[in-house]
Amino acid sequence: MTESRWRQRAALMRPAPIRLSAQRRLERALTIAELRSLASKRVPRAVFDYVDGGADAEITLRHNRHVLDQVTFAPTVLADVATPKMSVSALGMTSELPFALAPTGFSRLMHHAGEVAVAQAAARAGIPYALATMGTTSPEDLVSEVPSGRKWFQLYIWKDREATKQLVQRAAAAGYEALIVTVDSAVTGQRLRDVRNGLAIPPGVTARTVLDAARHPNWWLAFLTKEPLRFASLGRWDAPLAELGNLLYDATVTVEDIAWIRALWKGPLVIKGVSSARDAARVAAVGPDAIVLSNHGGRQLDQLPHPYDFIDDARAQLPAGVELWVDSGFSTGADIISAYARGADLVLVGRAYLYGLMAGGLIGVERAIAILADEARRTLQLLGCASVRDVTAAHVRRGIPERPAIPEPLPSASAASPEAAPLRRDHHE
Ligand SMILES: Cc1cc2nc3c(=O)[nH]c(=O)nc-3n(C[C@H](O)[C@H](O)[C@H](O)COP(=O)(O)O)c2cc1C
Repeated sequence: MTESRWRQRAALMRPAPIRLSAQRRLERALTIAELRSLASKRVPRAVFDYVDGGADAEITLRHNRHVLDQVTFAPTVLADVATPKMSVSALGMTSELPFALAPTGFSRLMHHAGEVAVAQAAARAGIPYALATMGTTSPEDLVSEVPSGRKWFQLYIWKDREATKQLVQRAAAAGYEALIVTVDSAVTGQRLRDVRNGLAIPPGVTARTVLDAARHPNWWLAFLTKEPLRFASLGRWDAPLAELGNLLYDATVTVEDIAWIRALWKGPLVIKGVSSARDAARVAAVGPDAIVLSNHGGRQLDQLPHPYDFIDDARAQLPAGVELWVDSGFSTGADIISAYARGADLVLVGRAYLYGLMAGGLIGVERAIAILADEARRTLQLLGCASVRDVTAAHVRRGIPERPAIPEPLPSASAASPEAAPLRRDHHE
């Protein structure tokens, strides 16, 4: 064989770059459902259930999947879709992909890198991320750790209005672009998996937690050696959890309080957690820039509709220019694209990225974003749309029954596993 032939062959036989096994494991997950399965092996059962579970009988949780499964597309063939435009505009600025990352509490419970990892992954993908009031990284720390990327701050109006005002001012001073006020949580939903698992934040160490540590050594090692979990938005992290609960949720909040926040916050205001056209009209009166039709991923009041069940009626209540966002149950790219056909301006995803976070920290969140982006791009192309904004009502058939049958429970039963780690629950989002 001539020398040049050897060279050609050698080039072909170049060893594949050595990849970390964590990355290989994540790449084997081709869907969010597979990431979820990976996540279930990486963290204690109580942590997984905290993310995965819903309120009460989890009827809303199942209904969300059921409604999205009912979507039937109506594609247009023979269109040039070689380079589809995936970006959308939200609050007057670009999101490079047609979804943003919803606010979720306690992300450092899922993986020690927590909110910082999520914000990093979002910034790299060019999509917005909303830090939650119940986050385990403070608004200031998140900005200093991840200065780039669009950041929104989610607010729960606390009983202590002065503390609430200070929190809003901190978010403004730290440079958060928009404030998302969540209005569907007068009290915390009853998530039976958490009660049965005895979830507490931070977790308490008992004989059974020690046993669980043997099954999930990496999670426990990080939990015991990294910075302790704390409610990072609060000035008082040393108060007992029950007391913090009192300080936090306020069941007296009304539309007037939202008007107060509107006057306080100069930037874009988003109201999250609307579950009827009637409430869409009530909150629109306060002058928000966007509202989020959301059943909180089935984690608050059970037996709520999915946003698709009333999206047209809600839209009819909104003045021109108010954006209509949706969340709850969106876990594939097809789900996400279907929202634009149903008239949404933006989709938020929650659990989809948290499964990634539990499965592998930063690279897990990146994997979740990549899965959703690939699926959304392919859906767009196969629908015959050259951009997300080209997706219209003509691209879906209706077919959502008015009173949908209640589908079977998810494979992971909501009843507590006898092996569940006994992490005590006093109060959480
Ligand atoms: C573990 C977890 C924690 C959450 N914490 C908050 C929160 O602190 N504030 C809030 O407004 N919504 C919170 N949500 C709701 C999400 O913002 C979003 O509405 C929901 O996750 C969307 O449904 P999906 O998970 O099916 O995508 C949380 C959701 C999950 C799964």
